[in-house]
Amino acid sequence: KIYPIIMAGGTGSRLWPLSREAFPKQFIRLYGEDSMLQATIKRLNGLDNIIDPLIICNEEHRFIAAEQLREIDQLAHNIILEPFGRNTAPAVALAAIEVAKKDPDGILLVLAADHVINDEYAFYTAINRAIVHTNSDKLVTFGIVPSYAETGYGYIQKGKPQGNDAFLVEKFVEKPNLETATRYVSSGEFLWNSGLFMFKAKCYLNELHKYSPRILACCQSALSQTTTDLDFIRLDKMAFSQCPSDSIDYAVMERTQDAVVVPMDAQWSDVGSWSSLWDISTKNQDNNVLYGDVLTTDTHNSYIRAEHKLVATVGVSDLVIIETKDAVLVMNKNDCQHVKKIIEQLKQSD
Ligand code: GDD
Ligand code: MG
Repeated sequence: KIYPIIMAGGTGSRLWPLSREAFPKQFIRLYGEDSMLQATIKRLNGLDNIIDPLIICNEEHRFIAAEQLREIDQLAHNIILEPFGRNTAPAVALAAIEVAKKDPDGILLVLAADHVINDEYAFYTAINRAIVHTNSDKLVTFGIVPSYAETGYGYIQKGKPQGNDAFLVEKFVEKPNLETATRYVSSGEFLWNSGLFMFKAKCYLNELHKYSPRILACCQSALSQTTTDLDFIRLDKMAFSQCPSDSIDYAVMERTQDAVVVPMDAQWSDVGSWSSLWDISTKNQDNNVLYGDVLTTDTHNSYIRAEHKLVATVGVSDLVIIETKDAVLVMNKNDCQHVKKIIEQLKQSD
């Protein structure tokens, strides 16, 4: 049986002003009809032997998450609520401990709640290929052929081939600097880490025990005194507050000797910024992506989104314009990573 684990506790700050702490990226309709979370869940319908998903999110978002599940008639296996984020290594640990209680050999399919995957067939193929490796107790990652030296991703060096469509992981490097990333991309030996993982619950817990025993111990203790109300599992706040904050990539994947990478050519995007959303969206004849009430003339290569007002542009190009109820962002489309600087300024003025 496969247990889908959906990590939905991030903040998505580069998609400000639409993505907010109170309503982050994974709950927004950024692309298509459904929110990113809903699309992630619906995508699972194409897999066999899959049970209802387990969702791990921040306590503050419990009603948004539950409502979005209801909207798509989806039952949750469980919703684990974190009183505060401790990054993904603990989030996955909580899920693994819950599953291992009844089924230590259960296979976890760990998914980010905020990715776009346009080629679902390739996604299913990669997952089905991974099963044989999870069954031999490997931690499976899914690799994307890199197209440029992105420093916000993990890089996986392919080692010895494992059958026709997988490799041992020679080396896993999370978020290298630009120089290193450039070298990795030009070597042709590296793949981007897509941020999806597959392994038996007990295998992840064993590796976590080896490399980050404190995270494991704190998560076990946070779950040993849980209270369950409605469908929510609430953690013991005190115990979880002792837990170190670390991502699965640094805490486990960089250190484990037992990882395999399955290449995945699924037109994947992690929609990390407004320009990456423009990249993957269908453009009109002027190469614009327009959303909501927008009028343009002589406007090109832009992403323009109106939530409440009419937005009109004349004679501009390469812009991102995001209009929301209480904030308007106008930005050069080539500077999208710097939106974080605005958020820092906002935090300082709070
Ligand atoms: N429950 C929970 N709690 N979920 C979290 C938390 C947390 O504290 N922090 C992040 N998440 C969720 C996010 O909502 C997202 O769905 C997923 O976990 C990944 O977290 P990100 O914060 O987006 O990670 P990243 O983008 O910096 O890096 C990861 O993804 C890249 C690909 O998009 C790494 O795995 C990289 O190696 C990878 O290349
Ligand atoms: Mg991400």
